[in-house]
Amino acid sequence: MPCTVLMGTQWGDEGKGKITDILARSADAVVRYQGGNNAGHTIVVGHTTFKLHLVPSGVIRDGTYAVIGDGCVVDPWVLKEELEYLGSLNIPTGRVLLSDRSHLILPHHRELDGMKEGSLAEGEKIGTTKRGIGPCYQDKAARIGIRAGDLRFPELLRRKVKDSLENAGRIAKALGNEIDTDPEKLYRELTEISSVIGPHIRDTAAFLVQLVENGKNILLEGAQGTFLDIDRGTYPFVTSSSCSAGYASGGSGIGPLDIDKVVGIVKAYTTRVGEGPFPTELRNNIGRMMQERGHELGTTTNRTRRCGWLDLVMVRSAVAWNSITDLALTKIDVLSGIDPLMVCTEYRIPEEDAELHGLGTQLRYFPSHIELLARATPVYVKVHGWEDMNEEDWMSAKSQKEVPKRVTDYIRMIEREVNSKVTMLSFGKDRDQTMDLDGDVL
Ligand code: GDP
Ligand code: IMO
Ligand code: MG
Repeated sequence: MPCTVLMGTQWGDEGKGKITDILARSADAVVRYQGGNNAGHTIVVGHTTFKLHLVPSGVIRDGTYAVIGDGCVVDPWVLKEELEYLGSLNIPTGRVLLSDRSHLILPHHRELDGMKEGSLAEGEKIGTTKRGIGPCYQDKAARIGIRAGDLRFPELLRRKVKDSLENAGRIAKALGNEIDTDPEKLYRELTEISSVIGPHIRDTAAFLVQLVENGKNILLEGAQGTFLDIDRGTYPFVTSSSCSAGYASGGSGIGPLDIDKVVGIVKAYTTRVGEGPFPTELRNNIGRMMQERGHELGTTTNRTRRCGWLDLVMVRSAVAWNSITDLALTKIDVLSGIDPLMVCTEYRIPEEDAELHGLGTQLRYFPSHIELLARATPVYVKVHGWEDMNEEDWMSAKSQKEVPKRVTDYIRMIEREVNSKVTMLSFGKDRDQTMDLDGDVL
């Protein structure tokens, strides 16, 4: 490693959990650096499926620290549940550490998330996970947030709880609603939960810096994806944090120059859950086929994920914006038997828009504004698909170290178009269903 960032290149759900679990085999710590329980990361080990929302995927590896870093927002009751869930699966949780700088998602944040969504007209709704992510980050940016570290200072906590509730009450009122603003009740509940999560809280940035100094291996596990990033994404249809590799440093405390590798996870097609633009979306049988074969149902909200062709304008942009050094291509098995396959390699915009925005009519990088994106038409190349392959066919390809020619062609085209190397190929949910194309990953 020693410090590797792993992150999504699309709209989330690329298979980050699965690949994190594989790379975590040689990690001393796995760190979440942004987001909260809006994430849903799935790991399949034999007959057991783990669904994690908050605790980093490395937790299931023996002896690995699982660190919820500074840039995360944490619902303490969800954390308690997740720790209990892991305990019920005989996964030790003593190495789960929670940053004292992380911000707490409180019940009124969840309520405000729902109220805000409810107040928006159709077409304006974000389709959030309603986990309170936006309102919590809003408080953080407004400098009135409550941090995990505040749980250690009762008088400060009491005062901050009161201020936070008063502020939330004003917002709820402006939305024509009300919320429970009893500060003593919330203060009591926080004191109770503190006895459960308190032992996990510490200055995780200091802890991680020490690991770096000792040459330990650290894996930084991104949540969401590049196009849900608050700056780089399809604003305002984004999440409220920075999901980019650059923030792996900000959200963990590890210096940017201590990071030496950035692995971008690319799903072999594109999916999106929630509202917002999606240039290569397929609202036809092929889209439905991808949805069914890929079991494209949200891990967190169980909503159907929208599906479409692979969009290399997105992946190319993600590679450039995040200094991606390696790509892991996932869910390649889902495309088996679809022939031909279409792949978007650029967008075209009308002459007048090109002039107005100082651009050419061909866009190789993702536009900065969704109004411009709405005027963009994807340009596709048609490529050969490959024959329907079942699990055994893929396993036998793995054992013979030979990927079918047309799959290799698909991979080479991606590499050529986005200027990065695909070093891992995932063809199923399980750990075993993964191929190392580079010889040094698995
Ligand atoms: P994450 O949010 O990026 O961690 O992804 P999710 O866990 O939300 O969604 C990915 C889904 O695809 C999960 O159900 C995984 O078990 C599954 N998955 C991961 N890799 C593969 C693969 O290569 N093939 C198939 N068929 N499923 C996969
Ligand atoms: P993982 O880590 C896919 C989406 C929501 C919504 C938007 C804003 O599993 O890839 P939020 O609740 O964050 O304010 O919602 O972001 N979203 C995700 N989509 N995967 C995720 O995480 C997501 N986390 C948030 O659906 O469109
Ligand atoms: Mg997910």
